[in-house]
Amino acid sequence: MRFHRQKYRRRSPLALMMALVGMLPFHANAQTKATPPSDAQVQARVSSLLKQMTLTEKIGQLNQLGAGFGMGGAQTDDTIRKGGAGSILWVNGAEALNRMQRIAIEKSRLHIPLIYGLDVIHGYNTIFPIPLGLASSWDTNLITQVQAVAAKEARADGIHWTFSPMVDIARDPRWGRIMEGAGEDPYLGAAIAKAQVRGFQGPYIGAPDHLLACVKHFAGYGAADGGRDYDSSYIPESQLWNVYLEPFRAAAEAGAGSFMSAYMDLNDVPATGNRFLLQDVLRKAWGFKGFVVSDAFSVQGMITHGFAANPADAAYRAITAGLNMDMASQTYLQNLEGLVKQKRISEAQIEAAVRPILEMKIRLGLFEHPYADVTKIAKIANAPEHRKLARIAAQRTVVLLKNTKNILPLSKEGSVAVIGPLANSSADMTSFWAGQAAYKENVTFLQGIKNKLGASAQVDYAQGVQITRTIPSFFDAIMQRKPVEKWSKAQEEEEYAQALELAKRSDRVVMVLGELASMSGELGSQSNIELPGNQQRLLEDIASLDKPLVLIVVSGRPINITWASEHVSAIMAVWHPGTEGGNGIADVLVGEINPSGKLPVTWPRHAGQIPTYYAHNLTHQPETDKGFTSRYWDDSSFPLYPFGYGLSYTTFTYSNLKVQKSTVKVGEPVTVQVDIANTGRYVGAEVAQLYIHQRSGSASRPVRQLKGFKRVILKAGAKQTLTFKLGKDELKYWSSAERNWVNEAGSFDVWVGGDSNAKLHTEFKVVP
Ligand code: BGC
Repeated sequence: MRFHRQKYRRRSPLALMMALVGMLPFHANAQTKATPPSDAQVQARVSSLLKQMTLTEKIGQLNQLGAGFGMGGAQTDDTIRKGGAGSILWVNGAEALNRMQRIAIEKSRLHIPLIYGLDVIHGYNTIFPIPLGLASSWDTNLITQVQAVAAKEARADGIHWTFSPMVDIARDPRWGRIMEGAGEDPYLGAAIAKAQVRGFQGPYIGAPDHLLACVKHFAGYGAADGGRDYDSSYIPESQLWNVYLEPFRAAAEAGAGSFMSAYMDLNDVPATGNRFLLQDVLRKAWGFKGFVVSDAFSVQGMITHGFAANPADAAYRAITAGLNMDMASQTYLQNLEGLVKQKRISEAQIEAAVRPILEMKIRLGLFEHPYADVTKIAKIANAPEHRKLARIAAQRTVVLLKNTKNILPLSKEGSVAVIGPLANSSADMTSFWAGQAAYKENVTFLQGIKNKLGASAQVDYAQGVQITRTIPSFFDAIMQRKPVEKWSKAQEEEEYAQALELAKRSDRVVMVLGELASMSGELGSQSNIELPGNQQRLLEDIASLDKPLVLIVVSGRPINITWASEHVSAIMAVWHPGTEGGNGIADVLVGEINPSGKLPVTWPRHAGQIPTYYAHNLTHQPETDKGFTSRYWDDSSFPLYPFGYGLSYTTFTYSNLKVQKSTVKVGEPVTVQVDIANTGRYVGAEVAQLYIHQRSGSASRPVRQLKGFKRVILKAGAKQTLTFKLGKDELKYWSSAERNWVNEAGSFDVWVGGDSNAKLHTEFKVVP
C-alpha cells in the first residue's frame, strides 16, 4: 500500500478528499496496480461513495444499458450523464467505449466509471476452439492460458468484464448452447470452471491485462426441456447439488467476482427471481460476495414467464431475490425508485445491491484508469504468440474417434481430395460470440492441409454440398456472418458431381462435414442431430469408392455419425477449432502432433437416445446386450462413444491399480496408484481418468463418477506411476434421503483408464 500513499501525498487536501470519496482517481498517473487493495480499504471507499450518492444514482449503478437495444446516441449519453447507468454492454472498440466513459467520468455528478461487459468466451481477436472443444483437451493449464490471452486482447480494447465462463452442465446435444460449456460432467466442469476464472481474472480481481469473470447461467439452463433454448428446467434437488451447481460452486470458490442469472424457470421459479439460487445457495451456502447480473432482458422476461405481474413486480422480485444488476431491460431504472417510495423495499436494500458493483469497479482500477489506450489493441490483436497458442489449443482439442487400416497419420505424399461444405469455410472455424474475429484471419481446414502438404502432394478441393439453416439465426449479423446465396438445383447437382469426380481421381479423401457455426449456440437448438443437408448422401457415395477416407467432424455438439463409425476408417471430432484451426488440425492429420483429446460429453448414436450420459444410476436390471434389462428393444442403449473417450496414434496401457489402504474410516482420504505406459510407437499425451462407484448408500449412486484425471505426456516405451487422492470432497454427495451432504460408510469400486468404460478395477471400504 506504500504505492497508494506516495501517490496521494503529492496531492492537495481537496484532491485527497475527493479521491477518498472516489470522485477522483487515487493514483491517476500510475500505469499498473502493483497489488490489490485490502478488503477494508475497498469497503471504506465504497461506503464513502455511497454516502455521496442519491437514490437515483444508486439505482443507476444497478442498470446495465444494452447499446443498440432501444438505447443509443443521445438518449444513452443522457442516461449516463445523469448517473443512470452503471454498466454498458454490446459496444465494441476502445474508442466507442472511451467516448461513453468520458461522459460518465467528466459529466456525471460523481464521476463513477462505467464497467463494460462483453461475451468473450473463446477469444477476442484471436479465436480459440469453442469451449466444448477446449474442454476436450482436459488440459486446465492450457485453458487458463487461453482465457488469459482472451482477457488480454479484450482488456486492451476497453472491455473490463466478460460474460464467461459459461459452466452449465449439458446432457442434451440438441441444446445449442452445449457448445459454450464444458460438457456433461460436474467434476470436469468444476475443474474447467476454475481454470477459466483463473485465466480471465488472473491472480486477483484487477490484475493488469485481465477481466472480471461472470459465471453463467445460474443455474440449470443446460437442463432445458427437450433441449429447447430458454425452456423450463426441472431438476431434482440431488441432481442440482451433485451435478448442475457443482461447476458454479467451484467458480465461486476460485474467486469469480460476478455471476449471471439464467433465463429459464428452475422448478417453476425464473432464475432471475429465484431466492433459493441467489440467496440460499450462492450467498449463504457458498459465501459469494460479488454481484449478480441478470441475463439480457430477463428481469422484464419474468412477466412473460407468467411469474411477475408487471414491471414493478418484476423489479421487486428480482431485487428481493438478490439480483444486483438488470441487464438491458431497464426495469430497475424505471421501477426501483417507486418501490422505495412505496416502502416495498428500503434504500438499504438498494445500497446492499450497489455495494459489490462499486467494489468491483474499485478492484478493477476503473477509478484510476477509466479509459483504454486506443493504440494498444492493434499492437496485440492476433499477436504471433496468441496465434501460436490458438494452434496448440486446436491440436489438443482434436478427439480421434476411430483410426483403422493405418489411415492416420496421413503420409505427406500422394494426392488428397479435401471435400465438404466446412472444408474451406472460414466463418465456421469460429463460432458463437466471436464478433471481434476477422474471418479472413481464420485458417480453414483446406488452407491448413495445403500449408502442410502443398509442397509434397496434390491437394484439391470441392465443396460438394451446401448447408443452410432453415430458420436463419438471429445472431448472424452480430457475428458478422455474411448471407450466403443458395445454390440452384443445377448448381447443386454440378457441385455434387464435381466432388465425386475429385474423390475418384485422388489417392485419399479428407471429408470435412458437420454443422455450420450458426447451427449451435444461443437460439441454435435443434430437434435432431443428423448431418444437415445432403452430407450423409455424399459421405456414403464417397465411402463407396473404397478410397482411404478420413472424416473430420466440425460441430458445436455431438451429431449422428453412427453410419460413418461403421463405414469410414478414420474419424476425428474437431468442433469449431478457431483462428488457427486449419493448421492445428493439419498438424494432427500428418502425425506431427499426436491427438490427445477426450470427449467431455457422451456421443449418442442418434437423437432417440437423448439424454444419455455416463453417470446414470443403475436400475433393478442394469443394461446388458440381451435379456430383460433397461435397454431399447429396437437399438442399443449404449452410446456411440463414451464420455472420456479419445484415441491416440500410440497406445497406453494401464496396470497395477491399487489403493494404499483397502479400508479407511469415514472422512479419511484414500490414495490410489496406477502405472501407465506408452506401449506404442509415438510420443503422446494421455488423460488418465479415475472413476468411482459407491455400491450402496442412503440414496442410489451413479454407476460411475469421474473423481480424478491427469494429463500426462509419455515417450514411446516410457512408464509413469500416477497417484490420485480421494478425499472427503470426492467421496461426499448430496443425498435426497438425508436432504444433505453425506460421507457414508460402504464399499467403493475404483476404475482407472482412458475413458469412462475403463476396465482396470480395484476397491476399498469405508467404515464408520
Ligand atoms: C445470453 C448471455 C449473454 C448475454 C449478453 C444473452 O442473450 O444468454 O449468455 O451473456 O446475452 O450478451
